[in-house]
Amino acid sequence: MTRNEKLLSWVKEWADLCEPESIHWCDGSEEENRILLDTAVKNGSAIKLNSAKRPECYYFQSDPSDVARVENRTFICSEKEEDAGPTNNWQDPHKMKKTLRSLYRGCMKGRIMYIIPFSMGPLGFDISHIGVEITDSIYVVTNMRIMTRMGQAVLDELGDGDFVPCIHSVGAPLKPGEKDRPWPCAPMEKKYITHFPETNEIWSFGSGYGGNALLGKKCFALRIASNMARREGWLAEHMLIMGVTNPKGQKKYFAAAFPSACGKTNLAMLIPTIPGWKVECVGDDIAWMKFGADGRLYAINPEYGFFGVAPYTSMETNPNALLSCRANTIFTNTALAPDGDIWWEGIGYDMPDGTITWTNEKYDPSSGKPAANPNARFTAPASQCPVIDSDWENPAGVPISAILFGGRRPNTLPLVYESFDWNHGVFIGSIAGSEVTAAAIGLKAGVRRDPFAMLPFCGYHMGDYFKHWIKIGKDAPDKTKLPKIFNVNWFRKDAEGKYLWPGYGENIRVLEWIFDRTENADVAKKTPIGYLPKEDAIDIQGLEEIKNNLSELIKVDKSEWLTELELVKTHYKVFGNKLPSELSQQLEELCTRLNNL
Ligand code: GTP
Ligand code: SPV
Ligand code: MN
Repeated sequence: MTRNEKLLSWVKEWADLCEPESIHWCDGSEEENRILLDTAVKNGSAIKLNSAKRPECYYFQSDPSDVARVENRTFICSEKEEDAGPTNNWQDPHKMKKTLRSLYRGCMKGRIMYIIPFSMGPLGFDISHIGVEITDSIYVVTNMRIMTRMGQAVLDELGDGDFVPCIHSVGAPLKPGEKDRPWPCAPMEKKYITHFPETNEIWSFGSGYGGNALLGKKCFALRIASNMARREGWLAEHMLIMGVTNPKGQKKYFAAAFPSACGKTNLAMLIPTIPGWKVECVGDDIAWMKFGADGRLYAINPEYGFFGVAPYTSMETNPNALLSCRANTIFTNTALAPDGDIWWEGIGYDMPDGTITWTNEKYDPSSGKPAANPNARFTAPASQCPVIDSDWENPAGVPISAILFGGRRPNTLPLVYESFDWNHGVFIGSIAGSEVTAAAIGLKAGVRRDPFAMLPFCGYHMGDYFKHWIKIGKDAPDKTKLPKIFNVNWFRKDAEGKYLWPGYGENIRVLEWIFDRTENADVAKKTPIGYLPKEDAIDIQGLEEIKNNLSELIKVDKSEWLTELELVKTHYKVFGNKLPSELSQQLEELCTRLNNL
């Protein structure tokens, strides 16, 4: 329990508004977790999976309308509209709170209000931040227990201190005697994922899924934390963190920002296909980065688990992810096999007869629909990853040698290239883009700009965010120790639409080049867009089948890039006078270099 006055009165205020049947303070214990999951099974919300195959694993199907983040229902409610910027939805905080209060009134009738104290980052260190989430969803409590350090220990650590208040409701009160639905939620027009950056508050209503509801993740560790980071001079980023060791035993850490469902989980724990290399995982989705006393940039993973994309995860593509979810895992919207195990497209073996789809129907091959939702996810403890890094909970973080940007680009973007310097690297991050994926509902197919993979997660004006990145480089205690910046693209396609690069474990071949470049190895050539690998600088021994693709993969095509430039100009116009002059200068210089090609 707690004697924290602010926390106690905040909980009382919300209990008075939401009118739950009772209040439960989560202690985070095993026993509590088991009781909650048993209740979910009894309610018909969850199925306990076959213990012989998946010990202590549970399966949930969401409502078909509630399968991913809802970007058009996500709001940054800063006092001034200008501070949310052109890439965020904005509403006046006072108006928004009024609208939401009327929705929250009585919204937990017939339900239990759970209080979840949680820490983003290892408990008890300066780098970490404490939040408390109020929710009426067992699914949220049990997922937050995997994704964050959660429970009584957090209250003990908090003492009288301050916390980020996060309020969540599925927005589906129960009338007396009314039977609950397996996955209660509110209709789309009543869903709101809202952030109040000046007061560090998060109010979420109507959705139970992932980033909409597990408020420590995107809402806190990215949207609110990006505001804190801006004020305090650090970085809160949508990045994996990985350790890479070469055959000589030298180890370096890389951070990589790819948009949602573009390969962070896969890269973070890949199994190298070239002998002597080793990859270890610090985190797969979020990085908080600060300069250390030695002048290097250090990163921590504020999370405690993985909320990973299930489809196409297999022993072939990502064995370490599959091994991470062998036990104590929650599966959402995968298919359910008749033996009480899960199944999904690309799991690496045929669908067993009698498989049930994520919409709880017998699979019908003639439907043309997949059995698992494309955004089906597993929630697994990071500690269960076979290659979790020994420093993954080190509160000092790990020193970052390289930052990678990337996305799904069928053309134009080469397999890998390196920026000339920090500002050019910031330029590369600012123009990043990707074909859209299933991680958010309602996006138009095609390539969209997703600067720094932060488009849905930057909690303030994106132009100011670019400025912040420029400033980090300018204020660096020692510029020679800044990470080098790269762009990668595993998704370039040939004329038939086939991937030119095999990806997954083979990506180590690109990491090798990056590793060597952080040591200034002479393996690069200068091009108008940046440094590219010299001929034969990417080791493709054992990969002879793609030998003929290599020139296509590392080419700079003038006409493709001139088209790209026009798209970048349109993208940049959106930021108006908030676009840092350093970046417009980078664009001009790139233009000149390309025209001279
Ligand atoms: P979020 O959790 O949404 O932020 O996504 P993420 O970036 O962690 O994405 P993840 O690693 O889960 O990858 C999503 C999809 O990309 C999966 O279906 C993968 O199979 C596919 N993928 C990952 N790496 C590669 C690759 O190197 N090549 C190809 N072709 N596909 C890949
Ligand atoms: C993403 O969409 O980038 C995710 C999944 O990591 S969610 O937590 O649902 O946002
Ligand atoms: Mn993500």
